[in-house]
Amino acid sequence: MKKKTIVSLTLILFTGILVFQSCKKDKEDSATSTSASDEFIADSSSFVSFMNWSLDKSYNGPDPLLGAMAHANNDSTVIRDVYFKDGQNSVNGKYPVGTLVVKYSHNPDSTVNEYTAMAKRGNNFNPNYGDWEFFMLTSSGSIATDSTGTAMRGADLMGGMCGSCHNSASSKDLIFSK
Ligand code: HEC
Repeated sequence: MKKKTIVSLTLILFTGILVFQSCKKDKEDSATSTSASDEFIADSSSFVSFMNWSLDKSYNGPDPLLGAMAHANNDSTVIRDVYFKDGQNSVNGKYPVGTLVVKYSHNPDSTVNEYTAMAKRGNNFNPNYGDWEFFMLTSSGSIATDSTGTAMRGADLMGGMCGSCHNSASSKDLIFSK
């Protein structure tokens, strides 16, 4: 009987150590992936499954912050769904390198279908705009191309309009929605 108790105590202790060690490892892993020297470069597959990500915010109707045209705000029936990959939250006020956010603006009669995205690229890629890269996507979530075949992505997409407007959310690392 006594022996049994000792065995189970040893087991409990051992499991405890294992759990503790794996927690510790998780912590170390995530610390590595958020270190400042990391860079995340999105490719055409990065956003494709965004509809299965976490829908963390849905806006209905006009938002004065958007002005007349941005994100189809001129249409009062528009819905703007914001998806965060893995429901990523900010960590100490900043989003980790590799954070992906997609905003899908649409309306009931399907005349508005706009897909914009942001990726936290890091590595001093875009110091004016929080090291985010901005994107226009197609409906399938691949990176859109303009009429000359150039990928619609970059630090200063739309002549810097994306970044300069998003800078008004600089206290939340340029993310309005959370
Ligand atoms: C005039 C201001 C303005 C401009 C220009 C603008 N945005 Fe936004 N964006 C917003 C606001 C405000 C929100 C959230 C609130 C809403 O949709 O009502 C938002 C939301 C987003 C989101 C969801 C994450 C978040 O910040 O909440 C993404 C992704 C996004 N915008 C991408 C872009 C891209 C890419 C461009 C350029 C092609 C762009 N935006 C241009 C104001 C702007």
